[in-house]
Amino acid sequence: MSVCQKMTQKRIEESMRKAKRTKFSGLRERAGLTLEEAAALLEVSPRSVYRYEEGASAPGRLAIRVLKDAADKRTASSADLPAFRFIDLFAGIGGLRLGFESIGGRCLFTSEWDIHSQKTYALNFPDNHSIGGDIREYSKDPALIPEHDLLLAGFPCQPFSIAGVSKKNALGRPHGFLCDTQGTLFFDTAQIIAHHRPAAFVLENVKNLESHDKGRTFSTIINVLTNELGYHVQHRVISSEPWVPQKRERIFIVGFREPTEFNFKALKVPSPGNGPKLGSILEPHDKVDPKYTLTPRLWEYLQGYKEKHRAAGNGFGFSLFGPDDVTRTLSARYYKDGSEVLVDQPGKRPRRLTPRECARLMGFETPERSFRIGVSDTQAYRQFGNAVVVPVVEFVAKAIRPYLEKAIAPGPDVADGPRAAVAQVTRPDRLMASVHG
Ligand SMILES: C[S@@+](CC[C@H](N)C(=O)[O-])C[C@H]1O[C@@H](n2cnc3c(N)ncnc32)[C@H](O)[C@@H]1O
Repeated sequence: MSVCQKMTQKRIEESMRKAKRTKFSGLRERAGLTLEEAAALLEVSPRSVYRYEEGASAPGRLAIRVLKDAADKRTASSADLPAFRFIDLFAGIGGLRLGFESIGGRCLFTSEWDIHSQKTYALNFPDNHSIGGDIREYSKDPALIPEHDLLLAGFPCQPFSIAGVSKKNALGRPHGFLCDTQGTLFFDTAQIIAHHRPAAFVLENVKNLESHDKGRTFSTIINVLTNELGYHVQHRVISSEPWVPQKRERIFIVGFREPTEFNFKALKVPSPGNGPKLGSILEPHDKVDPKYTLTPRLWEYLQGYKEKHRAAGNGFGFSLFGPDDVTRTLSARYYKDGSEVLVDQPGKRPRRLTPRECARLMGFETPERSFRIGVSDTQAYRQFGNAVVVPVVEFVAKAIRPYLEKAIAPGPDVADGPRAAVAQVTRPDRLMASVHG
């Protein structure tokens, strides 16, 4: 087993161990309650709720009934007849889902293996399905996934992102498809498409996916989707600046099973110049907990680091932003020192964004929509840094909507044509494994 495989295996085992659920925790999540809220509803101490959650003691029948009523009430409102059915793979905290729910879709299945992301997801989405874990359990047997019209997948981007690739290079580790288990998750997605043949799919990844490995990675992906699966595939890189005060470029790959008039390249994207500025999502500085202000030591270190690199002629180091600016891309490592997006506080050392401000910078929270955060700051920063900007997805979803509706409208039965394309996608990782034994 390669180092990469071993590390991932360890992560899966840890995640599966932690993912052991009690009936209580499942109902609490379906009810969308934090531990504190569940304690208040059941009129017991937070400590008792903690013990129910862990399975250290069992709640009474009445407590279970109250919790079940709350869960049923929450999920009932989302049971109206949906415009279309979709599944949410590599769901993170549901950025793609929010976008496609905004055009009337109903999520039937979710896969996300990180326990902390599962918590945020469950807190924000009333569901009558529990969250599935490792996608590979499902790609082995895709029949476990319900039939759907649209497949959404923000498959992991570290194997392809500039930061991820340089780190793996520095450690002498394989990246892209060769980072087995991370890079090859695209093929698990493709296997699920091959089995279910949804009317359409939307995949999302970092912009760098297109140029990774001199374009070979991207052409493999497009080849599988187009030639093996028989889909009509288009892609486009879209930056988030028109919608949020952050420059975050992501590639969207859209595929339709049948020929479509949807033209991604011709889609008119609003101009970035008219987008919002950072001041629109910031809390007043005096209302922000002082813990978000950099310590003198960290601030000194970051300034020294930047100066060292400036002297060497490169631009590494912290970035400071004020209310009239648009920030750099928020990354999953923001929790470390916050250096990529520091907020200028006149007369004071800079501060990090709060998790609430990150929710707004990523468009999860807007004046019309609130988003619940029930995890530690570290986990919240990771989750937002990994996510997709919701208003960008809403924009893509609105553009696709008429073509999707047309694609799923009842019509002449074409199922025997493209549906029969392939049963098994070609996986370069497996081919390599068989070549190298
Ligand atoms: C780039 S993030 C997607 C974020 C998502 N689009 C959002 O808006 O929050 C990729 C996600 O895939 C999850 N993931 C990675 N490997 C997985 C696996 N084998 N099975 C299920 N989920 C996995 C990660 O935990 C991470 O949350």
